[in-house]
Amino acid sequence: MSRRSVRVCFVCLGNICRSPTAEGVMRKFVEDQGLSRRIQVDSAGTAAYHVGERADRRSRQAARRRGVSLESRARQFGIEDFGIQDYVLAMDRKNLETLENLLIDGDFEGRLSLLLDLDPLAKRGSEVPDPYYGGDAGFEEVLDLCESACLGLIEQIRRDGLLE
Ligand code: 4NP
Repeated sequence: MSRRSVRVCFVCLGNICRSPTAEGVMRKFVEDQGLSRRIQVDSAGTAAYHVGERADRRSRQAARRRGVSLESRARQFGIEDFGIQDYVLAMDRKNLETLENLLIDGDFEGRLSLLLDLDPLAKRGSEVPDPYYGGDAGFEEVLDLCESACLGLIEQIRRDGLLE
């Protein structure tokens, strides 16, 4: 019997740096592990400033050097996302709080958490820092954190029994 696919959405502020990076990294891992038909990967921002834009050039270049292609266009996360996503993963506590507030009158049957809380190697409550106003090292750090966390995420999806 084949189940429906699992939907994952990464969320940051602008949807041009961190969450598109997590989306691209996760998509690559999912493809590499032959899971493309089981896991759908998406991203969004809590803010609308950059809606319609491609990922930041610095994010795209840093990702490309690791064989990851960032193809998303920025969109704003909406309440309707809670009706379709299984995992909504925030990059930092501020964005998690925004999502929790959006959900205040609704409910969500999936998992809403910080992305790094799915990384067994990360300290609980750790955040993916916003690289937008900083230098190149920040974009590399985002990639490092996303690579580690996305491996943890795939394992979590397996543990949750959604890949059986
Ligand atoms: P992101 O980074 O949330 O990782 O996409 C940012 C992008 C843009 C802005 C802030 C953070 N901004 O203020 O425009």
